[in-house]
Amino acid sequence: MKFRRRLGAVLIASFGFAMTVHAAEDALIKRGEYLAKAGDCIACHSAPQGKPFAGGLSLATPLGNIVSTNITPSKTNGIGNYTLEQFAAALRGGVRADGQLLYPAMPYTSYALVSDDDVKALYAYFMQGVAPVNVSPPQTALPFPFNVRVSMAAWNLLFLDSRPFTPDPSQSVEWNRGAYLVKGLAHCSTCHTPRNALMAEETSASLGGSVVGTWYAPNISSDPTSGIGPWSEADIVAYLRTGHVVGRAQAAGPMAEAVDNSFRHLDDRDLRAMAVYLQSTPAVHHAADRRPPYAWGGRKASVDEVRGEPLPEDANRMSGPQLYDAYCASCHQVHGEGAGQGIDGPGLPSLFHNTALGHTNTNNLVMVMLEGVHRQASAPDVLMPAFGRLLSDQQIATLGNYLLKEYGNPNASVTAEQVKILRAGGEASPLITIARASLIVAGLLLLAVLLLLMRRRKRS
Ligand code: HEC
Ligand code: HEC
Ligand code: HEC
Repeated sequence: MKFRRRLGAVLIASFGFAMTVHAAEDALIKRGEYLAKAGDCIACHSAPQGKPFAGGLSLATPLGNIVSTNITPSKTNGIGNYTLEQFAAALRGGVRADGQLLYPAMPYTSYALVSDDDVKALYAYFMQGVAPVNVSPPQTALPFPFNVRVSMAAWNLLFLDSRPFTPDPSQSVEWNRGAYLVKGLAHCSTCHTPRNALMAEETSASLGGSVVGTWYAPNISSDPTSGIGPWSEADIVAYLRTGHVVGRAQAAGPMAEAVDNSFRHLDDRDLRAMAVYLQSTPAVHHAADRRPPYAWGGRKASVDEVRGEPLPEDANRMSGPQLYDAYCASCHQVHGEGAGQGIDGPGLPSLFHNTALGHTNTNNLVMVMLEGVHRQASAPDVLMPAFGRLLSDQQIATLGNYLLKEYGNPNASVTAEQVKILRAGGEASPLITIARASLIVAGLLLLAVLLLLMRRRKRS
Protein backbone atom coordinates (compact mmCIF):
# COMPACT_ATOMS: atom_id res chain seq x y z
CA MET A 1 0.00 0.00 0.00
CA LYS A 2 2.75 2.30 1.13
CA PHE A 3 4.77 1.27 -1.91
CA ARG A 4 1.88 1.91 -4.28
CA ARG A 5 1.29 5.32 -2.78
CA ARG A 6 4.94 6.14 -3.23
CA LEU A 7 4.87 4.87 -6.82
CA GLY A 8 1.83 7.06 -7.45
CA ALA A 9 3.67 10.08 -6.07
CA VAL A 10 6.70 9.33 -8.23
CA LEU A 11 4.48 8.92 -11.30
CA ILE A 12 2.67 12.18 -10.61
CA ALA A 13 5.96 13.96 -10.01
CA SER A 14 7.55 12.72 -13.21
CA PHE A 15 4.39 13.46 -15.15
CA GLY A 16 4.46 16.94 -13.72
CA PHE A 17 8.13 17.23 -14.65
CA ALA A 18 7.36 16.13 -18.22
CA MET A 19 4.59 18.70 -18.34
CA THR A 20 6.90 21.51 -17.25
CA VAL A 21 9.57 20.42 -19.73
CA HIS A 22 6.92 20.42 -22.40
CA ALA A 23 5.60 23.84 -21.34
CA ALA A 24 9.14 25.22 -21.24
CA GLU A 25 9.82 23.85 -24.73
CA ASP A 26 6.58 25.41 -25.99
CA ALA A 27 7.48 28.74 -24.42
CA LEU A 28 10.93 28.58 -26.05
CA ILE A 29 9.40 27.89 -29.48
CA LYS A 30 6.95 30.75 -28.96
CA ARG A 31 9.74 33.11 -28.04
CA GLY A 32 11.66 31.94 -31.11
CA GLU A 33 8.64 32.73 -33.26
CA TYR A 34 8.51 36.25 -31.83
CA LEU A 35 12.24 36.71 -32.45
CA ALA A 36 11.90 35.41 -36.02
CA LYS A 37 9.30 38.14 -36.54
CA ALA A 38 11.64 40.73 -35.02
CA GLY A 39 14.33 39.53 -37.45
CA ASP A 40 11.90 39.45 -40.38
CA CYS A 41 13.36 36.14 -41.59
CA ILE A 42 10.19 35.54 -43.61
CA ALA A 43 10.67 38.65 -45.78
CA CYS A 44 13.76 37.30 -47.51
CA HIS A 45 13.25 33.57 -47.06
CA SER A 46 9.88 33.34 -48.83
CA ALA A 47 9.16 33.85 -52.52
CA PRO A 48 6.04 35.78 -53.57
CA GLN A 49 3.15 33.30 -53.25
CA GLY A 50 5.68 30.73 -51.99
CA LYS A 51 5.55 28.69 -48.77
CA PRO A 52 6.82 30.48 -45.65
CA PHE A 53 10.61 30.10 -45.15
CA ALA A 54 11.02 27.86 -48.24
CA GLY A 55 13.34 30.44 -49.85
CA GLY A 56 13.45 31.39 -53.51
CA LEU A 57 13.27 35.19 -53.25
CA SER A 58 15.73 36.87 -55.61
CA LEU A 59 17.49 39.72 -53.87
CA ALA A 60 18.77 42.19 -56.42
CA THR A 61 22.31 43.36 -55.58
CA PRO A 62 24.74 45.34 -57.70
CA LEU A 63 26.53 42.03 -58.32
CA GLY A 64 23.48 40.18 -59.59
CA ASN A 65 20.63 38.28 -57.96
CA ILE A 66 21.22 36.36 -54.75
CA VAL A 67 18.54 33.75 -54.10
CA SER A 68 17.49 33.09 -50.51
CA THR A 69 17.61 29.48 -49.36
CA ASN A 70 15.08 27.11 -47.79
CA ILE A 71 15.31 27.47 -43.98
CA THR A 72 12.42 25.15 -43.12
CA PRO A 73 13.45 22.03 -41.14
CA SER A 74 13.32 19.85 -44.26
CA LYS A 75 16.19 17.33 -44.00
CA THR A 76 16.57 17.12 -47.77
CA ASN A 77 16.09 20.72 -48.90
CA GLY A 78 16.22 22.92 -45.82
CA ILE A 79 18.17 23.24 -42.59
CA GLY A 80 16.72 20.10 -40.92
CA ASN A 81 20.20 18.68 -40.37
CA TYR A 82 21.66 21.88 -38.87
CA THR A 83 22.87 21.53 -35.28
CA LEU A 84 22.39 24.45 -32.90
CA GLU A 85 26.07 25.34 -33.38
CA GLN A 86 25.77 25.30 -37.18
CA PHE A 87 22.61 27.41 -37.00
CA ALA A 88 24.41 29.93 -34.78
CA ALA A 89 27.37 30.02 -37.18
CA ALA A 90 25.09 30.76 -40.15
CA LEU A 91 23.08 33.41 -38.32
CA ARG A 92 25.93 35.26 -36.64
CA GLY A 93 28.97 34.40 -38.74
CA GLY A 94 27.67 33.86 -42.25
CA VAL A 95 28.99 30.26 -42.42
CA ARG A 96 26.80 27.55 -43.96
CA ALA A 97 26.66 24.02 -42.49
CA ASP A 98 28.92 22.73 -45.30
CA GLY A 99 31.52 25.35 -44.36
CA GLN A 100 30.86 27.56 -47.39
CA LEU A 101 30.51 31.28 -46.73
CA LEU A 102 27.19 33.07 -47.15
CA TYR A 103 26.87 36.32 -49.04
CA PRO A 104 26.13 39.30 -46.81
CA ALA A 105 22.72 39.65 -48.51
CA MET A 106 21.90 37.53 -45.46
CA PRO A 107 22.25 40.23 -42.76
CA TYR A 108 24.59 38.25 -40.49
CA THR A 109 26.59 41.41 -39.78
CA SER A 110 23.53 42.64 -37.81
CA TYR A 111 22.49 39.24 -36.47
CA ALA A 112 26.03 38.87 -35.06
CA LEU A 113 24.64 40.72 -32.02
CA VAL A 114 21.91 38.13 -31.26
CA SER A 115 22.45 36.59 -27.82
CA ASP A 116 23.04 32.86 -27.21
CA ASP A 117 19.65 32.57 -25.51
CA ASP A 118 17.87 34.15 -28.45
CA VAL A 119 19.74 31.94 -30.94
CA LYS A 120 18.53 28.91 -28.94
CA ALA A 121 14.93 30.11 -29.09
CA LEU A 122 15.16 30.81 -32.82
CA TYR A 123 16.64 27.34 -33.37
CA ALA A 124 13.83 25.70 -31.39
CA TYR A 125 11.27 27.57 -33.48
CA PHE A 126 12.84 26.74 -36.85
CA MET A 127 13.28 23.05 -35.93
CA GLN A 128 9.92 22.48 -34.25
CA GLY A 129 7.58 25.37 -35.04
CA VAL A 130 8.03 25.64 -38.79
CA ALA A 131 6.57 23.12 -41.28
CA PRO A 132 9.23 21.41 -43.42
CA VAL A 133 8.98 22.12 -47.16
CA ASN A 134 10.81 19.73 -49.48
CA VAL A 135 11.65 22.02 -52.37
CA SER A 136 14.88 23.74 -53.32
CA PRO A 137 14.93 27.23 -54.79
CA PRO A 138 17.20 27.93 -57.77
CA GLN A 139 20.86 28.34 -56.82
CA THR A 140 22.59 31.70 -56.72
CA ALA A 141 24.89 32.12 -59.69
CA LEU A 142 26.83 35.36 -59.41
CA PRO A 143 29.25 36.24 -62.19
CA PHE A 144 32.98 35.71 -61.72
CA PRO A 145 34.77 36.65 -59.43
CA PHE A 146 31.88 36.83 -56.97
CA ASN A 147 30.90 33.19 -57.49
CA VAL A 148 34.00 32.27 -55.48
CA ARG A 149 32.49 32.22 -52.01
CA VAL A 150 35.89 32.05 -50.31
CA SER A 151 36.34 35.70 -51.29
CA MET A 152 33.77 36.51 -48.59
CA ALA A 153 36.42 35.55 -46.00
CA ALA A 154 38.36 38.69 -46.91
CA TRP A 155 35.16 40.71 -46.77
CA ASN A 156 34.29 39.28 -43.33
CA LEU A 157 37.78 40.06 -42.08
CA LEU A 158 37.21 43.69 -43.03
CA PHE A 159 33.56 44.18 -42.17
CA LEU A 160 32.20 41.50 -39.80
CA ASP A 161 32.32 42.57 -36.19
CA SER A 162 31.58 39.34 -34.38
CA ARG A 163 31.74 40.71 -30.84
CA PRO A 164 28.52 39.98 -28.93
CA PHE A 165 26.22 42.78 -27.80
CA THR A 166 27.57 44.42 -24.65
CA PRO A 167 25.10 46.58 -22.74
CA ASP A 168 26.17 50.14 -22.01
CA PRO A 169 26.05 50.42 -18.21
CA SER A 170 25.61 54.22 -18.38
CA GLN A 171 22.27 53.78 -20.18
CA SER A 172 18.91 52.46 -18.96
CA VAL A 173 17.76 48.86 -19.33
CA GLU A 174 15.17 50.10 -21.82
CA TRP A 175 17.77 51.90 -23.98
CA ASN A 176 19.95 48.79 -24.02
CA ARG A 177 17.02 46.60 -25.06
CA GLY A 178 16.28 49.07 -27.88
CA ALA A 179 19.91 49.15 -29.02
CA TYR A 180 20.03 45.33 -28.99
CA LEU A 181 16.95 45.09 -31.22
CA VAL A 182 17.62 48.01 -33.60
CA LYS A 183 21.26 47.08 -34.24
CA GLY A 184 20.68 43.33 -34.11
CA LEU A 185 17.59 41.37 -35.09
CA ALA A 186 15.55 44.29 -36.48
CA HIS A 187 18.55 45.14 -38.74
CA CYS A 188 17.36 48.71 -39.51
CA SER A 189 20.87 49.58 -40.70
CA THR A 190 20.72 46.97 -43.49
CA CYS A 191 18.49 49.40 -45.37
CA HIS A 192 19.01 52.78 -43.67
CA THR A 193 22.84 52.93 -43.55
CA PRO A 194 24.72 53.93 -46.70
CA ARG A 195 27.24 51.44 -48.11
CA ASN A 196 30.81 51.88 -49.30
CA ALA A 197 32.30 50.75 -52.60
CA LEU A 198 32.61 47.20 -51.24
CA MET A 199 28.93 47.09 -50.25
CA ALA A 200 29.62 47.23 -46.51
CA GLU A 201 27.71 49.57 -44.21
CA GLU A 202 29.47 52.87 -43.54
CA THR A 203 29.49 52.87 -39.75
CA SER A 204 30.43 56.55 -39.60
CA ALA A 205 27.09 57.42 -41.26
CA SER A 206 25.00 54.87 -39.39
CA LEU A 207 21.26 55.20 -40.21
CA GLY A 208 22.12 58.23 -42.37
CA GLY A 209 19.94 57.13 -45.30
CA SER A 210 20.63 54.79 -48.20
CA VAL A 211 19.37 53.61 -51.54
CA VAL A 212 17.59 50.24 -51.35
CA GLY A 213 17.09 49.04 -54.91
CA THR A 214 14.65 51.47 -56.49
CA TRP A 215 13.63 52.89 -53.08
CA TYR A 216 15.31 55.27 -50.68
CA ALA A 217 15.48 54.42 -46.97
CA PRO A 218 15.70 57.90 -45.43
CA ASN A 219 18.01 59.26 -42.75
CA ILE A 220 16.58 57.99 -39.42
CA SER A 221 19.44 59.17 -37.22
CA SER A 222 18.57 61.60 -34.42
CA ASP A 223 19.57 64.67 -36.47
CA PRO A 224 16.90 67.40 -36.04
CA THR A 225 16.77 68.41 -39.74
CA SER A 226 18.14 65.49 -41.74
CA GLY A 227 16.86 62.71 -39.50
CA ILE A 228 13.96 61.94 -37.19
CA GLY A 229 15.20 63.98 -34.22
CA PRO A 230 11.91 65.86 -33.77
CA TRP A 231 9.78 62.67 -33.87
CA SER A 232 8.41 61.86 -30.43
CA GLU A 233 8.71 58.42 -28.90
CA ALA A 234 4.99 57.95 -29.62
CA ASP A 235 5.50 58.94 -33.29
CA ILE A 236 8.20 56.32 -33.77
CA VAL A 237 6.18 53.62 -32.01
CA ALA A 238 3.10 54.46 -34.10
CA TYR A 239 5.10 54.40 -37.33
CA LEU A 240 6.59 50.99 -36.59
CA ARG A 241 3.24 49.62 -35.39
CA THR A 242 0.95 51.01 -38.17
CA GLY A 243 3.24 52.41 -40.87
CA HIS A 244 1.58 55.78 -40.62
CA VAL A 245 1.91 58.97 -38.58
CA VAL A 246 -0.31 61.94 -39.47
CA GLY A 247 1.76 65.00 -40.40
CA ARG A 248 4.93 62.93 -40.67
CA ALA A 249 5.19 59.92 -42.94
CA GLN A 250 3.76 56.65 -44.17
CA ALA A 251 5.46 53.41 -45.13
CA ALA A 252 5.39 52.08 -48.68
CA GLY A 253 7.59 49.59 -50.55
CA PRO A 254 10.16 47.67 -48.49
CA MET A 255 9.27 49.59 -45.31
CA ALA A 256 5.59 48.64 -45.68
CA GLU A 257 6.69 45.00 -45.92
CA ALA A 258 8.91 45.34 -42.87
CA VAL A 259 6.02 46.85 -40.88
CA ASP A 260 3.61 44.16 -42.08
CA ASN A 261 5.87 41.14 -41.50
CA SER A 262 7.87 42.32 -38.57
CA PHE A 263 7.55 45.52 -36.57
CA ARG A 264 3.77 45.52 -36.05
CA HIS A 265 4.08 42.15 -34.28
CA LEU A 266 6.47 43.46 -31.63
CA ASP A 267 5.05 44.25 -28.21
CA ASP A 268 4.75 47.81 -26.94
CA ARG A 269 7.66 47.45 -24.55
CA ASP A 270 10.05 46.48 -27.33
CA LEU A 271 8.79 49.17 -29.70
CA ARG A 272 9.13 51.81 -26.99
CA ALA A 273 12.65 50.60 -26.21
CA MET A 274 13.57 50.86 -29.89
CA ALA A 275 12.15 54.40 -30.02
CA VAL A 276 14.14 55.41 -26.93
CA TYR A 277 17.34 54.11 -28.50
CA LEU A 278 16.58 55.67 -31.92
CA GLN A 279 16.16 59.09 -30.31
CA SER A 280 19.73 58.85 -29.03
CA THR A 281 21.66 57.68 -32.12
CA PRO A 282 24.56 59.87 -33.35
CA ALA A 283 23.16 62.61 -35.61
CA VAL A 284 24.06 62.31 -39.29
CA HIS A 285 23.62 65.73 -40.86
CA HIS A 286 23.56 66.64 -44.55
CA ALA A 287 24.47 70.28 -45.12
CA ALA A 288 21.92 70.69 -47.94
CA ASP A 289 18.98 69.85 -45.63
CA ARG A 290 17.27 73.07 -44.52
CA ARG A 291 14.30 71.74 -42.57
CA PRO A 292 12.88 68.38 -41.51
CA PRO A 293 11.48 66.52 -44.52
CA TYR A 294 7.96 66.48 -43.05
CA ALA A 295 7.94 70.26 -42.46
CA TRP A 296 7.40 71.49 -46.02
CA GLY A 297 4.38 72.95 -47.78
CA GLY A 298 0.82 73.74 -46.83
CA ARG A 299 -2.74 73.71 -48.06
CA LYS A 300 -2.93 75.07 -51.64
CA ALA A 301 -5.33 74.80 -54.53
CA SER A 302 -4.04 75.44 -57.98
CA VAL A 303 -6.33 72.79 -59.48
CA ASP A 304 -9.24 75.26 -59.33
CA GLU A 305 -7.65 77.24 -62.18
CA VAL A 306 -7.45 74.26 -64.52
CA ARG A 307 -10.97 72.98 -64.04
CA GLY A 308 -13.00 73.50 -67.22
CA GLU A 309 -9.85 74.09 -69.26
CA PRO A 310 -9.58 71.74 -72.28
CA LEU A 311 -6.87 69.06 -72.01
CA PRO A 312 -4.02 69.09 -74.56
CA GLU A 313 -4.24 66.46 -77.32
CA ASP A 314 -0.84 65.06 -76.40
CA ALA A 315 -1.28 63.57 -72.91
CA ASN A 316 2.43 64.10 -72.26
CA ARG A 317 1.79 67.84 -72.37
CA MET A 318 -0.79 67.81 -69.59
CA SER A 319 0.20 70.23 -66.84
CA GLY A 320 0.89 69.26 -63.23
CA PRO A 321 -2.45 70.59 -61.95
CA GLN A 322 -4.28 68.81 -64.78
CA LEU A 323 -2.64 65.50 -63.94
CA TYR A 324 -3.25 65.98 -60.25
CA ASP A 325 -6.89 66.80 -60.87
CA ALA A 326 -7.35 63.78 -63.12
CA TYR A 327 -5.59 61.12 -61.05
CA CYS A 328 -4.97 62.19 -57.47
CA ALA A 329 -7.40 64.84 -56.25
CA SER A 330 -10.24 62.35 -55.72
CA CYS A 331 -8.31 60.94 -52.78
CA HIS A 332 -5.75 63.56 -51.73
CA GLN A 333 -8.35 66.35 -52.29
CA VAL A 334 -8.18 69.68 -54.13
CA HIS A 335 -6.02 71.39 -51.55
CA GLY A 336 -3.73 68.38 -51.08
CA GLU A 337 -5.13 68.10 -47.58
CA GLY A 338 -6.16 64.45 -47.69
CA ALA A 339 -9.17 63.17 -45.80
CA GLY A 340 -10.25 61.24 -42.74
CA GLN A 341 -6.87 61.17 -41.07
CA GLY A 342 -8.19 60.07 -37.71
CA ILE A 343 -6.10 58.63 -34.93
CA ASP A 344 -7.60 55.18 -35.31
CA GLY A 345 -7.50 54.96 -39.10
CA PRO A 346 -4.82 56.05 -41.53
CA GLY A 347 -7.26 57.63 -43.99
CA LEU A 348 -5.93 59.52 -47.01
CA PRO A 349 -2.77 61.45 -46.16
CA SER A 350 -2.19 65.11 -46.88
CA LEU A 351 0.60 65.71 -49.37
CA PHE A 352 2.04 68.62 -47.41
CA HIS A 353 3.72 67.90 -44.09
CA ASN A 354 4.63 64.56 -45.59
CA THR A 355 8.19 63.20 -45.82
CA ALA A 356 7.30 61.61 -49.17
CA LEU A 357 7.60 65.13 -50.66
CA GLY A 358 10.30 66.47 -48.38
CA HIS A 359 13.37 64.38 -49.16
CA THR A 360 15.95 65.57 -51.67
CA ASN A 361 16.05 62.02 -53.00
CA THR A 362 12.73 61.69 -54.84
CA ASN A 363 12.84 57.98 -55.69
CA ASN A 364 10.09 57.10 -53.19
CA LEU A 365 7.74 59.71 -54.67
CA VAL A 366 8.24 58.16 -58.10
CA MET A 367 7.98 54.58 -56.78
CA VAL A 368 4.75 55.38 -54.94
CA MET A 369 3.22 56.68 -58.17
CA LEU A 370 4.50 53.66 -60.12
CA GLU A 371 3.56 50.97 -57.59
CA GLY A 372 1.06 52.51 -55.15
CA VAL A 373 0.96 51.73 -51.43
CA HIS A 374 -0.07 48.36 -49.96
CA ARG A 375 -0.04 47.68 -46.26
CA GLN A 376 -2.04 45.43 -43.95
CA ALA A 377 -0.81 46.85 -40.68
CA SER A 378 -3.84 49.08 -40.15
CA ALA A 379 -7.44 47.99 -40.30
CA PRO A 380 -8.82 48.36 -42.92
CA ASP A 381 -5.90 47.61 -45.26
CA VAL A 382 -4.16 50.69 -46.63
CA LEU A 383 -4.25 50.92 -50.38
CA MET A 384 -3.21 53.47 -52.97
CA PRO A 385 -3.54 52.19 -56.53
CA ALA A 386 -0.48 51.89 -58.79
CA PHE A 387 -0.33 54.40 -61.64
CA GLY A 388 2.63 52.83 -63.45
CA ARG A 389 0.48 51.60 -66.34
CA LEU A 390 -1.65 54.74 -66.61
CA LEU A 391 1.01 57.42 -66.52
CA SER A 392 4.01 57.88 -68.83
CA ASP A 393 7.52 58.72 -67.60
CA GLN A 394 6.96 62.32 -68.68
CA GLN A 395 3.60 62.55 -66.88
CA ILE A 396 5.06 61.18 -63.65
CA ALA A 397 7.93 63.67 -63.88
CA THR A 398 5.55 66.61 -64.56
CA LEU A 399 3.25 65.56 -61.72
CA GLY A 400 6.15 64.92 -59.34
CA ASN A 401 7.71 68.32 -59.99
CA TYR A 402 4.36 70.05 -59.59
CA LEU A 403 3.72 68.32 -56.24
CA LEU A 404 7.22 69.09 -54.97
CA LYS A 405 6.85 72.77 -55.84
CA GLU A 406 3.30 73.02 -54.55
CA TYR A 407 3.35 70.86 -51.42
CA GLY A 408 6.89 69.72 -50.78
CA ASN A 409 10.58 70.53 -50.96
CA PRO A 410 10.91 72.93 -53.94
CA ASN A 411 14.66 72.19 -54.19
CA ALA A 412 13.96 68.58 -55.09
CA SER A 413 13.01 67.38 -58.55
CA VAL A 414 12.00 64.40 -60.67
CA THR A 415 13.20 63.75 -64.23
CA ALA A 416 11.62 61.56 -66.90
CA GLU A 417 14.97 59.75 -67.22
CA GLN A 418 14.87 58.90 -63.47
CA VAL A 419 11.34 57.51 -63.86
CA LYS A 420 12.46 55.40 -66.82
CA ILE A 421 15.39 53.95 -64.85
CA LEU A 422 13.28 53.20 -61.76
CA ARG A 423 10.58 51.63 -63.91
CA ALA A 424 13.22 49.33 -65.39
CA GLY A 425 14.38 48.26 -61.91
CA GLY A 426 17.13 50.74 -61.14
CA GLU A 427 20.58 51.63 -62.36
CA ALA A 428 23.12 48.99 -63.37
CA SER A 429 26.16 49.00 -61.11
CA PRO A 430 29.71 49.33 -62.43
CA LEU A 431 30.94 47.06 -59.60
CA ILE A 432 31.30 43.92 -61.73
CA THR A 433 33.26 45.73 -64.42
CA ILE A 434 35.44 47.34 -61.76
CA ALA A 435 36.07 44.00 -60.01
CA ARG A 436 36.95 42.27 -63.28
CA ALA A 437 39.14 45.15 -64.39
CA SER A 438 41.03 45.17 -61.10
CA LEU A 439 41.48 41.38 -61.30
CA ILE A 440 42.89 41.75 -64.81
CA VAL A 441 45.22 44.50 -63.59
CA ALA A 442 46.28 42.34 -60.62
CA GLY A 443 46.82 39.38 -62.98
CA LEU A 444 48.97 41.47 -65.32
CA LEU A 445 51.01 42.78 -62.41
CA LEU A 446 51.56 39.25 -61.14
CA LEU A 447 52.64 38.17 -64.62
CA ALA A 448 55.03 41.10 -64.85
CA VAL A 449 56.59 40.21 -61.48
CA LEU A 450 56.93 36.55 -62.49
CA LEU A 451 58.59 37.47 -65.80
CA LEU A 452 60.98 39.78 -63.99
CA LEU A 453 61.90 37.06 -61.50
CA MET A 454 62.43 34.55 -64.31
CA ARG A 455 64.74 36.92 -66.18
CA ARG A 456 66.73 37.56 -63.03
CA ARG A 457 67.08 33.84 -62.44
CA LYS A 458 68.25 33.30 -66.02
CA ARG A 459 70.89 35.98 -65.64
CA SER A 460 72.23 34.54 -62.40
C1 HEC B 1 17.67 40.63 -46.00
C2 HEC B 1 17.37 39.26 -46.35
C3 HEC B 1 17.47 38.17 -45.31
C4 HEC B 1 16.94 38.16 -44.05
C5 HEC B 1 16.13 39.25 -43.37
C6 HEC B 1 17.27 36.87 -43.49
N1 HEC B 1 18.00 36.13 -44.38
FE1 HEC B 1 18.80 34.29 -44.04
N2 HEC B 1 19.64 34.30 -45.90
C7 HEC B 1 19.41 35.27 -46.85
C8 HEC B 1 20.06 34.87 -48.09
C9 HEC B 1 20.05 35.65 -49.39
C10 HEC B 1 20.68 33.63 -47.83
C11 HEC B 1 21.52 32.82 -48.80
C12 HEC B 1 22.83 33.51 -48.97
C13 HEC B 1 23.81 32.76 -49.82
O1 HEC B 1 23.42 31.90 -50.60
O2 HEC B 1 25.01 33.03 -49.68
C14 HEC B 1 20.40 33.30 -46.44
C15 HEC B 1 20.85 32.17 -45.81
C16 HEC B 1 20.48 31.77 -44.53
C17 HEC B 1 20.90 30.53 -43.89
C18 HEC B 1 21.80 29.48 -44.48
C19 HEC B 1 20.95 28.39 -45.03
C20 HEC B 1 21.65 27.46 -46.00
O3 HEC B 1 22.13 26.42 -45.58
O4 HEC B 1 21.70 27.82 -47.19
C21 HEC B 1 20.27 30.49 -42.65
C22 HEC B 1 20.37 29.40 -41.61
C23 HEC B 1 19.48 31.70 -42.54
N3 HEC B 1 19.64 32.45 -43.69
C24 HEC B 1 18.68 32.01 -41.46
C25 HEC B 1 17.98 33.20 -41.31
C26 HEC B 1 17.21 33.55 -40.14
C27 HEC B 1 17.01 32.66 -38.95
C28 HEC B 1 16.73 34.81 -40.34
C29 HEC B 1 15.93 35.69 -39.40
C30 HEC B 1 16.46 35.88 -38.08
C31 HEC B 1 17.19 35.23 -41.66
N4 HEC B 1 17.94 34.23 -42.21
C32 HEC B 1 16.90 36.47 -42.23
C33 HEC B 1 18.75 36.46 -46.69
C34 HEC B 1 18.12 36.87 -45.52
C1 HEC C 1 13.95 46.39 -45.99
C2 HEC C 1 14.49 47.70 -45.83
C3 HEC C 1 14.16 48.45 -44.54
C4 HEC C 1 14.31 48.03 -43.24
C5 HEC C 1 14.84 46.69 -42.73
C6 HEC C 1 13.90 49.13 -42.41
N1 HEC C 1 13.50 50.18 -43.18
FE1 HEC C 1 12.70 51.95 -42.53
N2 HEC C 1 12.35 52.54 -44.43
C7 HEC C 1 12.71 51.84 -45.57
C8 HEC C 1 12.25 52.57 -46.74
C9 HEC C 1 12.43 52.16 -48.19
C10 HEC C 1 11.57 53.71 -46.26
C11 HEC C 1 10.81 54.77 -47.08
C12 HEC C 1 9.34 54.38 -47.11
C13 HEC C 1 8.42 55.40 -47.72
O1 HEC C 1 8.72 56.60 -47.67
O2 HEC C 1 7.35 55.02 -48.21
C14 HEC C 1 11.67 53.66 -44.80
C15 HEC C 1 11.14 54.63 -43.96
C16 HEC C 1 11.33 54.68 -42.58
C17 HEC C 1 10.94 55.78 -41.73
C18 HEC C 1 10.26 57.07 -42.19
C19 HEC C 1 11.29 58.10 -42.52
C20 HEC C 1 10.81 59.22 -43.37
O3 HEC C 1 11.53 60.22 -43.44
O4 HEC C 1 9.76 59.09 -44.01
C21 HEC C 1 11.30 55.43 -40.44
C22 HEC C 1 11.08 56.26 -39.20
C23 HEC C 1 11.91 54.12 -40.52
N3 HEC C 1 11.92 53.70 -41.83
C24 HEC C 1 12.42 53.46 -39.42
C25 HEC C 1 12.95 52.16 -39.48
C26 HEC C 1 13.40 51.44 -38.33
C27 HEC C 1 13.42 51.97 -36.92
C28 HEC C 1 13.81 50.21 -38.77
C29 HEC C 1 14.30 49.04 -37.94
C30 HEC C 1 13.48 48.73 -36.79
C31 HEC C 1 13.62 50.18 -40.21
N4 HEC C 1 13.11 51.39 -40.61
C32 HEC C 1 13.94 49.11 -41.02
C33 HEC C 1 13.37 50.62 -45.60
C34 HEC C 1 13.63 49.81 -44.50
C1 HEC D 1 -7.77 55.73 -54.19
C2 HEC D 1 -7.20 56.76 -53.40
C3 HEC D 1 -5.86 57.35 -53.84
C4 HEC D 1 -5.53 57.91 -55.06
C5 HEC D 1 -6.39 58.04 -56.30
C6 HEC D 1 -4.18 58.40 -54.90
N1 HEC D 1 -3.71 58.13 -53.66
FE1 HEC D 1 -1.89 58.62 -52.93
N2 HEC D 1 -2.30 57.62 -51.21
C7 HEC D 1 -3.48 56.98 -50.92
C8 HEC D 1 -3.33 56.23 -49.70
C9 HEC D 1 -4.40 55.38 -49.02
C10 HEC D 1 -1.99 56.44 -49.27
C11 HEC D 1 -1.27 55.79 -48.09
C12 HEC D 1 -1.72 56.22 -46.77
C13 HEC D 1 -0.90 55.55 -45.70
O1 HEC D 1 0.15 54.99 -45.99
O2 HEC D 1 -1.33 55.56 -44.58
C14 HEC D 1 -1.38 57.34 -50.23
C15 HEC D 1 -0.09 57.81 -50.11
C16 HEC D 1 0.50 58.68 -51.00
C17 HEC D 1 1.81 59.25 -50.85
C18 HEC D 1 2.77 59.01 -49.68
C19 HEC D 1 3.49 57.70 -49.87
C20 HEC D 1 4.68 57.44 -48.99
O3 HEC D 1 5.36 56.44 -49.21
O4 HEC D 1 5.00 58.19 -48.09
C21 HEC D 1 2.03 60.02 -51.95
C22 HEC D 1 3.28 60.81 -52.27
C23 HEC D 1 0.86 59.94 -52.79
N3 HEC D 1 -0.06 59.12 -52.18
C24 HEC D 1 0.72 60.58 -54.00
C25 HEC D 1 -0.35 60.35 -54.88
C26 HEC D 1 -0.39 60.83 -56.24
C27 HEC D 1 0.69 61.68 -56.89
C28 HEC D 1 -1.56 60.40 -56.77
C29 HEC D 1 -2.06 60.61 -58.19
C30 HEC D 1 -1.21 60.07 -59.23
C31 HEC D 1 -2.25 59.64 -55.75
N4 HEC D 1 -1.47 59.62 -54.63
C32 HEC D 1 -3.48 59.05 -55.92
C33 HEC D 1 -4.61 57.02 -51.68
C34 HEC D 1 -4.71 57.48 -52.98
